[in-house]
Amino acid sequence: MFSISVKEFLIWKKKQLSKGGDKKSFAVLLDCICGISSYDLNMLSINPEGNFYIKKNLDHLESIWDNHILNSLPIQYLCGITFWRDLKLKVTDKVLIPRPETELIIDIVFKIFGKKSQKKLFAELGTGSGAISIALALAYPWWDGIATDIDQDALKIASENYMNYSKQSNLKFFCGDWWTPFERFKGKLDLAISNPPYIPKNTYEKLPKEVKNFEPKIALLGGKDGLKHISEIIQKAPLFLKEKGWLILENHFDQGEKVKQLFIQNKFNAVEIVNDLSGIGRFTIGRYK
Ligand SMILES: C[S@@+](CC[C@H](N)C(=O)[O-])C[C@H]1O[C@@H](n2cnc3c(N)ncnc32)[C@H](O)[C@@H]1O
Repeated sequence: MFSISVKEFLIWKKKQLSKGGDKKSFAVLLDCICGISSYDLNMLSINPEGNFYIKKNLDHLESIWDNHILNSLPIQYLCGITFWRDLKLKVTDKVLIPRPETELIIDIVFKIFGKKSQKKLFAELGTGSGAISIALALAYPWWDGIATDIDQDALKIASENYMNYSKQSNLKFFCGDWWTPFERFKGKLDLAISNPPYIPKNTYEKLPKEVKNFEPKIALLGGKDGLKHISEIIQKAPLFLKEKGWLILENHFDQGEKVKQLFIQNKFNAVEIVNDLSGIGRFTIGRYK
């Protein structure tokens, strides 16, 4: 532990932020490496007298921040941690950093099923860090969940994240291509969720370098029009969902109408585009017959 005066720390913080980067990334750095939460930070700013303790010295923190700024390396990969809803998850460059907009998927599930719904079987296709499935498995410990990914390294991180949070075993992980791991669950799923790779090829080429150079291509690229994986997931969903089972998909900001039509063509009812907090049609949901 290193003792430091609050005033010295606040001057140092201002200097770091003047180099670039955003306050949210800086807060991740302080929390993960130094053990200073956003709450602590507010308290220090309100009450700048005296000293406090940090886990690593400021030179160490500064070298990580400089690496982030100079090389556009996501702070979450440098720290090995990200925050998502109320979870603190391990992340490496083998998994997509789960995005704040995706957090709404959990609220959509709460809206559909309520918080006290009976036992259900849910599936997540393309779990990455495990964020969505872990949040659901914790919110509904009496449900069973199956989370899959094509990438074995991603699944290792997802199951590690799950084990850090739960002693239960209501979430299982399987490796495979979209619906392949679900052969024995045909007609049994109450709910299937996916935030699949949906970025169209041209858009992918122009992504900011902190995304394109560091996050896994397999987690982002959705073929020429971005709908390659979304179409496959929707077309095969009826084989695996129970009657009246729900499918919830995340899509790119401008894909809502097309995804809605794919749901309808595949005999889904109650199809709806759900906006994210910026008013963008980010999710499409539907019920199979
Ligand atoms: C956009 S990321 C979503 C990760 C996580 N669910 C989230 O919301 O942060 C898409 C995930 O799908 C996985 N994936 C890509 N192609 C796949 C396939 N053919 N079958 C199964 N998973 C796949 C990727 O490895 C990646 O983890």
